[in-house]
Amino acid sequence: MEGQCVNMSFSDKTPTAAEGGSPKKSKKKLKKEDAWRPEGPRDPFVMLDSLPEKKQQEIQRALHLFSPGPSLPRTLQQAESHAYRFWDTQPVPRLGDKTAAHGPIAEGEVSVREEPYSLPQGFSWDTPDLSSPTVLNELRALLNENYRGEDDNTIRRDFSPEYLQWALQPPNWQAHWHCGVRVDTNNKLVGFIAAVPADVCAYETQQRMAQVKLLCVHKKLRLKRMTPVLIRELTRRVSRQGVRQAVYAAGVVLPTPLSSCRYWHRPLNPRKLMEVNYPGLRQNMNLQRALKFNRLPAVTKTKGLRPMTERDVAGTHSLLQTNGSKFQLRPVWSPQEVEHWLLPREGVIDTYVVEV
Ligand SMILES: CC(C)(COP(=O)(O)OP(=O)(O)OC[C@H]1O[C@@H](n2cnc3c(N)ncnc32)[C@H](O)[C@@H]1OP(=O)(O)O)[C@@H](O)C(=O)NCCC(=O)NCCS
Repeated sequence: MEGQCVNMSFSDKTPTAAEGGSPKKSKKKLKKEDAWRPEGPRDPFVMLDSLPEKKQQEIQRALHLFSPGPSLPRTLQQAESHAYRFWDTQPVPRLGDKTAAHGPIAEGEVSVREEPYSLPQGFSWDTPDLSSPTVLNELRALLNENYRGEDDNTIRRDFSPEYLQWALQPPNWQAHWHCGVRVDTNNKLVGFIAAVPADVCAYETQQRMAQVKLLCVHKKLRLKRMTPVLIRELTRRVSRQGVRQAVYAAGVVLPTPLSSCRYWHRPLNPRKLMEVNYPGLRQNMNLQRALKFNRLPAVTKTKGLRPMTERDVAGTHSLLQTNGSKFQLRPVWSPQEVEHWLLPREGVIDTYVVEV
């Protein structure tokens, strides 16, 4: 499977000589090289996998350090010189377009393809069944090993089965909107994208949309254009149910951002975070200062803070509605959604309310 992965491409066109080379030539070359090769795994990924975890991390850190940086732009300025081969084919505003009015980009009846998009030979579409613990664990493994916060592998997220069910099965969730790609030979899950239904209000228009989540491609299949295929297939599945708009968040600039947000982190264990060089810590602080600076008081400043319970759902819903109406782009949650997204779940979400 390894060799197959490295040489395949998900793009519509066949790989060019520069991308894939001619199979005949590479076969010859391999034979020649085989003569002096030592016994053992030859595929670089297999070799990497066979190293101890610590060694793998060191190599990944070094690669990260010497890499020319992420290929996708992180600022609007960088985006000016980026060619969006896929996104330029999609019904989204181009970067730099002057938008005079707001509303749907395309209107009217659109025919939606009945059959799934084609995948390269050896790969198949799948709809992971999240009620199966086995499948949930497969998805967990894909995300835990490949959904990296940092490219140098110092930080990994741990997607628990409870978290995945919470994130992917809110009220009105659609099984078909969980879209996976598997390898035929071993059934391994190597790609995933999902959407959940979301009512979004943009200016005065409220619209049922698809909120796209957890896009992930196995690290060995990166830069092979699997993402556009995943996005197209998800769009098809969502459109078949009459939903024509989607929202998603990304840490890179894609055509065209309409909102941005800032994440706030509160370091709870500065000692550990310093050990792993967590980038969110202030660089000019030594450990003692960081411990002191981040120490939490024994009691909260806000009096009456307590975990949210079911009895708070109606009040929280009404507070969110009032506050949300200040924004030109906002999610519109039903009481059931407030309950789903906010009610505390162990290891998944903590929500606190204040009673006055
Ligand atoms: C994000 C990820 C799926 C991209 O895969 P990749 O192998 O680098 O990219 P591919 O070759 O498959 O596809 C490239 C196309 O996908 C687009 N793309 C990349 N990341 C994207 C994202 N997060 N959302 C939407 N489109 C994205 C690129 O812009 C490019 O299209 P373009 O030519 O129009 O610019 C992969 O890096 C990954 O799994 N990362 C870890 C998880 C993650 O960060 N998920 C996204 C969270 S927002």
